[in-house]
Amino acid sequence: MRTAGKIFVVSNRGSYTLKETENGIVTVPSVSGLVSAVEPVLKQQGGVWISWGGREAGPQTKAVRLPIPQDNPLYYFHEVLLTPEEIQNYYHGFTNRALWPLCHYFLERCTYDPKEWSAYVKVNNKFAAALLTEFSPGSVVWINDYHLALVPGICRREMPDARLVFFWHIPFPHYDLFSTLPWAREMLQGLLGSTIIGFHLEDYALNFMDTVRNLLGAVIDYENYTVSWQGRLVRVRACPMGIDFAAFQDLAGKAETQAKARALREQIGTEFVALGVERLDYTKGILERLLAFENFLQDYPSYRGRLSLIQVAVPSRGSVKAYQQLRSQVEEAVGRINGRFSEGHYRPVHYFYRALPREELVSYYLAADIMLVTPLRDGLNLVAKEYVASRIDEDGVLILSKFAGAARELKGALLVNPYDIDGTARALQLALTLPAGQRRQRMQALREMVRKQDLRWWLQNFHLGSAGPKSGEIIVPRRVIKYSARQKGTAVDV
Ligand code: UDP
Ligand code: G6P
Repeated sequence: MRTAGKIFVVSNRGSYTLKETENGIVTVPSVSGLVSAVEPVLKQQGGVWISWGGREAGPQTKAVRLPIPQDNPLYYFHEVLLTPEEIQNYYHGFTNRALWPLCHYFLERCTYDPKEWSAYVKVNNKFAAALLTEFSPGSVVWINDYHLALVPGICRREMPDARLVFFWHIPFPHYDLFSTLPWAREMLQGLLGSTIIGFHLEDYALNFMDTVRNLLGAVIDYENYTVSWQGRLVRVRACPMGIDFAAFQDLAGKAETQAKARALREQIGTEFVALGVERLDYTKGILERLLAFENFLQDYPSYRGRLSLIQVAVPSRGSVKAYQQLRSQVEEAVGRINGRFSEGHYRPVHYFYRALPREELVSYYLAADIMLVTPLRDGLNLVAKEYVASRIDEDGVLILSKFAGAARELKGALLVNPYDIDGTARALQLALTLPAGQRRQRMQALREMVRKQDLRWWLQNFHLGSAGPKSGEIIVPRRVIKYSARQKGTAVDV
């Protein structure tokens, strides 16, 4: 394994979920935007990925340190073991029933439980301890997401000079919301142990700085995006994550992928195919999308028999009640729509409850005339960018929620408000009737943007890629705004 430029990645979920079998431990690939972004970096640069492998630790369970891939290691997977109580209180509890709904603006779904917060503190200490055993001076540490907000603060005490890059992959909500969390201050103090804190959007970075100012009374420089904290200057950066454009383009160009796409279309058998693909999560707006599709078939009967929707729902967080309920609701809606509108060989919704490997996913992207990415709230959304990168034929229409972070960049998409069911149905109608020239124009613009602001570009902005920054500075083009209103007053919330 290469050691130069070695990187230490810390995240709750790693590239693999470990499963115990009679023949030993097997690895199952994990599915998320975080994994899609981090793994190529580790594969390229080498290093260690410190994460929970998804196992429940019994009294005899030993943590593993696996070479990935086993026969020709490019990096190491360092497992952090969690006990059943920790999984319950930290993972199902604090991260998935408090932080996740809070940051996605679902305050009514939040549960704030001191027992779960204690587990969060304990588990963050475990991850920090694991990092301290692996870390070698001079290396970059990349800590990821809301599960591990306390890790930078804990590590900063032990490694005062370390370069700790933190990236928050989900939205950072407005101060009004974040301050409902009883432990909001502790979360912020933990994050401020970082050297740089990154967000996808400027809005999230501004929300973060406002919250820090209001809750901690820290001095914020809104021009330069810095926070003065305990004698250090912490940088805040906004830069939307990119994807490996070339990899998706190459896959889409393969004869095998194209043959699979044709076979899929033949199997579906309709003139038009629309696609939705995401983890089965209430933030993704799957139910609202199905309702929009149902309204569409009702209001535009000429499309019955001519348009099918493929909905891929990737199993996610199945032990959390809200996710179990969502699955029932989604499957009930699929059943109802198919019951109402199926005729002969025609099935309106083709529903799959599973994850697709990337090769297959790209063939689905190629088969879809319309891609529906309609989350109620999403930090960014990589699927939208992957669809665009895969459309080497410059065809296809992206219908995108204006509440997905990616909507800020993907200007050629048809933007919708996913809460407006009829509006989404109308967007479907527009997408189906858009002339070929307009589809091409929109897709060309989208592809240019996704190609330019790709994963390599993003990594350079955080000084994480092996290519390093182009200059010594961050290269994100930023709007220069006078946030005088934000600068006024330094009221400290008590
Ligand atoms: N993905 C996948 N197989 C699937 C569905 C999704 O590999 O069946 C990947 C997809 O390629 C993307 C990631 O999962 O890179 C989802 O990232 P996104 O930012 O869209 O959503 P998240 O799951 O992180 O909320
Ligand atoms: C989102 C989060 C990730 C998380 C992923 C999958 O992408 O930003 O941190 O890993 O969802 O969720 P899970 O709970 O399975 O790790």
